[in-house]
Amino acid sequence: MDIKKTLFIGLTLLITLNLNAQNLMDSVYNEPYRPQLHFSAKEKWMNDPNGMVYYNGLYHLFFQYYPNGITWGPMHWGHATSNDLVHWQQQQIALFPDSLGYIFSGSAVVDKHNTTGLGKNGQVPLVAIFTHHDPIGEKAGTNTFQYQSLAYSLDEGKTWEKYSGNPVLKNPGIRDFRDPSVQWYAPQKKWVMTLATKDRVTFYSSPNLKEWRKESEFGSNIGAHLGVWECPNLFKLKLKEKTYWVLMVSVNPGGPNGGSATQYFIGDFNGTEFKTSVPNPVTKWADYGPDDYAGVTWSNTGNRKIFLGWMTNWTYAQQVPTEKWRSAMTVPRELKLMEVNNDVFLRSTPVKELKDLEASNRNLTGTIQSTNAITLDISNKLLFKLNIDFDKIGEFTLVMENNNGNKLEIGYDSNTKAYYINRSKSGIVDFNPEFPKLISAPRLTSTVVTRLELILDASSVEVFADNGLTVLTSTYFTKNPFNKLTIKKNKNTAVKTAKIAGLKSIW
Ligand code: FRU
Repeated sequence: MDIKKTLFIGLTLLITLNLNAQNLMDSVYNEPYRPQLHFSAKEKWMNDPNGMVYYNGLYHLFFQYYPNGITWGPMHWGHATSNDLVHWQQQQIALFPDSLGYIFSGSAVVDKHNTTGLGKNGQVPLVAIFTHHDPIGEKAGTNTFQYQSLAYSLDEGKTWEKYSGNPVLKNPGIRDFRDPSVQWYAPQKKWVMTLATKDRVTFYSSPNLKEWRKESEFGSNIGAHLGVWECPNLFKLKLKEKTYWVLMVSVNPGGPNGGSATQYFIGDFNGTEFKTSVPNPVTKWADYGPDDYAGVTWSNTGNRKIFLGWMTNWTYAQQVPTEKWRSAMTVPRELKLMEVNNDVFLRSTPVKELKDLEASNRNLTGTIQSTNAITLDISNKLLFKLNIDFDKIGEFTLVMENNNGNKLEIGYDSNTKAYYINRSKSGIVDFNPEFPKLISAPRLTSTVVTRLELILDASSVEVFADNGLTVLTSTYFTKNPFNKLTIKKNKNTAVKTAKIAGLKSIW
């Protein structure tokens, strides 16, 4: 063959191949509704965050993953890593189902003292503690098909080996017996496991992660109980030199806006028992919105507590109108405590690392102070963060709209004393009758300085009201991004400062 011709064909082929590769790259993370600021799996079904652990400069995020479909199926642990909590790289699947069952939710710890003996040649083992769910036992109608097992990594989380002695905690006959969250309890030099056991949490302890002893139970007569308890997480936080223990527990259904949500209790833990130490007149929710479930915090981050949840609701998670992938995580949030009327609450705010995504900034203070409604063209800020510091809140509404007549409204209603999100006209809402319902959350205080932060992504909005005391997370599905933002307020609302920042995609 003529050499020129061969060269030509070769070159064309190379260019086509390159273009195809480029198209493929462009299409991933660029599909309709694909979150640009939040982690989502490249493709297929994802649910709960799992095994979140920080080690040697890397944040590990494992997640419930079904790589062969876009609805829930035999669970694996998918894996992603980040060095800044903002940009994520998806890694190879960490744990596959095996003869003991599917790999359900759980946690991961750094076994610094090699209590497990799994560390070899001085390499510190990362140990994952998860639930094995045996589908055969489930079908056969037994009550013992969920039990706890271990896997470990000797290369800082890249590859994982299942422990040969699995399971390490057998099922005593409780149908819902899952989602172990493990931590080192230094005062008694032992590991503590917080496990969801149907309508309560059961604490276990162990010297080596392999042998577990039951310590106590908590919660059968407190909190929300419409559905079973799942994905608990116990951790310490300080408020003015006083240490509190926070116990988070997800419940499904039974959330404040229907379906899935995460409640929390504040109290004391002595290595054996958890007791609430502050009044609990009402159930406290980590997020009042419908789209934050199974959230837990990273282990091994010292005093900093960073939370992340699954940003959807079991009520409709498997029906949302995405095609190649399903669901995303919330932004990572820093948790702190706040005192309100002699009670103690969690407050969450987006982690400071997200600041790196700010591409442009506009100060709206003067304009908002001088008028009761402003409309902004946000077509160059399709992803944005809005910060408003109020001196006083009477009523206000934030309306995001596009040219197709889709709109999303967020506001505060002084009659009901509640924050709300109205997504009934936000785009596609008819995949489930629950989805268009009004979302609301009580305002817990009017006495603190009140900052509202809002993060808008391609298919989600996260609202952190009253300095993060009341959080509302909501997804929405509009094909065309919102290009107009209107901020309205009544005369009883006074704004101290207001800023909007355009955000860059993390992909
Ligand atoms: C919570 C949950 C967990 C379970 C996992 C299964 O969303 O139901 O309790 O381990 O999902 O995927």
